[in-house]
Amino acid sequence: MALFSKKDDKKANENVSFSVLPDHVGIIMDGNGRWAKKRGLPRSAGHKAGAEVFREIAKECGRLGIKHATFYAFSTENWRRSKDEVDALMRLLKEYLLEAKEDVAGAENNRLRFIGLRDGISDELLRLIDEAEEDTKNNTGCEINVAFNYGGRQEIVHAVNELIKQGKTQITEQDISDNIYTVPDCDLIIRPSGEQRLSNFLLWQAAYSEFWYSDVLWPDFTKYDLYDALREFENRNRRFGG
Ligand code: FPP
Repeated sequence: MALFSKKDDKKANENVSFSVLPDHVGIIMDGNGRWAKKRGLPRSAGHKAGAEVFREIAKECGRLGIKHATFYAFSTENWRRSKDEVDALMRLLKEYLLEAKEDVAGAENNRLRFIGLRDGISDELLRLIDEAEEDTKNNTGCEINVAFNYGGRQEIVHAVNELIKQGKTQITEQDISDNIYTVPDCDLIIRPSGEQRLSNFLLWQAAYSEFWYSDVLWPDFTKYDLYDALREFENRNRRFGG
């Protein structure tokens, strides 16, 4: 049962605090398509609703003092979806980026970063991505990573290729850690929508992640679901194999 209810009074919400916070939270924003289908809407409407939730949850991560939050927005496998759906996701990111600085970044002095491949993304979108990263690079709030055209395996291959370019013939774990997209080990992975799999997300960083699942579809996800995940994380006994 949810620990925090949407009916919780405002005061409880303002005062929410945690004795231990994950340094890095990863969120798989899943269930947009099913949310739209249930309402007889096109899948793009589910992604639009999901993007609104992304904004709220990203800001909440900053407000709570989480240092890194990575949101899975588009995987290297998502190109297999219909052209209409892919176009809708690209459009959404573009619209979002035009407002992002005042909204997600401005609210809590958050930093925006994009992790993933640049191939296949339009020049206009790449320019907006570069601008958003550049304009927020000195911000000291939460580092909000948008995993876009991202795949965990691809990220590891990218790191190994970087090491080959550097002339290495033998590598260490630290070498890989130093050459992935500079996101630290992930403490907590949140996946709504009832699915219980990693789907090629943060494979390297997830070695000792705690997992939190819920049946709620991403467009219905609220900060109270985030609090539930964080409260459960607070009570997990992490041993890191020791
Ligand atoms: C998975 O749900 C979701 C995606 C592939 C896209 C996630 C993207 C967003 C929430 C928009 C983010 C936008 C910005 C601006 C960062 P699904 O479509 O696979 O849902 P289903 O499993 O119910 O079909």
